[in-house]
Amino acid sequence: MDQSRMTLGRFLARHCPQDEKGRTLALLLRQVADSCRRISDAVGGGALRDLTGAADNVNVQGEEQKKLDVFANDALLEGCSWGGTVAGMASEEEDDVFTLPEDEPRGPYILLFDPLDGSSNIDVNVSVGTIFSVLPAPDAGRDPVNEDLLQSGDQQVAAGYVVYGPSTVLALTVGNGVHVFTLDRAQGEWFLTTADLKVPEQTAEFAINCSYWHQWPAPVRRYIEECLAGEDGPRGKRFNMRWVASMVADLHRIFTRGGVFLYPADSRRPNGRLRVLYEVNPIAMLMEQAGGAAFTGEERAMALQPKELHQRAGLLIGSREEVAVLERYYSEQ
Ligand code: AHG
Ligand code: MN
Ligand code: MN
Ligand code: MN
Repeated sequence: MDQSRMTLGRFLARHCPQDEKGRTLALLLRQVADSCRRISDAVGGGALRDLTGAADNVNVQGEEQKKLDVFANDALLEGCSWGGTVAGMASEEEDDVFTLPEDEPRGPYILLFDPLDGSSNIDVNVSVGTIFSVLPAPDAGRDPVNEDLLQSGDQQVAAGYVVYGPSTVLALTVGNGVHVFTLDRAQGEWFLTTADLKVPEQTAEFAINCSYWHQWPAPVRRYIEECLAGEDGPRGKRFNMRWVASMVADLHRIFTRGGVFLYPADSRRPNGRLRVLYEVNPIAMLMEQAGGAAFTGEERAMALQPKELHQRAGLLIGSREEVAVLERYYSEQ
């Protein structure tokens, strides 16, 4: 092994604030990474681990839970509920804020997560992921309740995602850029593989589920029509299209080579599809930290003040120039 490689532990010791809260944040992010290592192992085992298929339960989002949704949710809840790192947690798969066992110390942070993003791809062996967000816990002298978690994305102290793909990668920000780690599956150790990732400002690639064409709002129709018009259209260039249907995988491609991802609010889903606290905010923080932009269709994504734990929003996110075009089309409608 190359001893000079930066491990996640060393990176966190260097990049988290050098005080007690900073050390607690480093421990929390280690706990998240350790939990995701377990999830990566489970995803990699596929049908051999009896973790494919449905769990015979419907979550608070009205979605049928997969066995892997439940496994990943439990792995994160168990992996982060000790050591005085969090005061509470919230998840796409939990109805309300998760309260720690009585005998565990309470910490200064709240962890929010989408334990398994891209559930529809599990059984077809396509990349899935985990998305997480760290908020400060209000100093209320009691366990957090749902309302304590209704903080805008700008309040986040850290955010990240993991993609369980051909390799397992973790993209992380603690507010000083986006740094990507790759899991050495044999050693169980994360190594820094891309420091200070920046999204290309210009792009000619978009990601959207075109089967919703008939229900899109006018600015999105206009944008996609113009992309599809190619060199002779108003954009003057040919655009490529990709749609994995796991947001983390689509976004990891965009973080790597540029592009724009659209899941707008539309006539069938007037509040959008993606969840503000578990999907929109963490990805938006990473995107801004990488030099890109994130817009809900109404406002800068991280400025949105959530009113409900499982609130949804539209999301138009990616390379800055493309998001600026979309913002203009929304303002002109
Ligand atoms: P989740 O699996 O956590 O419920 O999220 C799925 C999301 C997101 O990953 C993806 O971009 C989108 O749903 C796919 O939606 P469609 O099936 O409508 O394309
Ligand atoms: Mn889901
Ligand atoms: Mn998701
Ligand atoms: Mn999910």
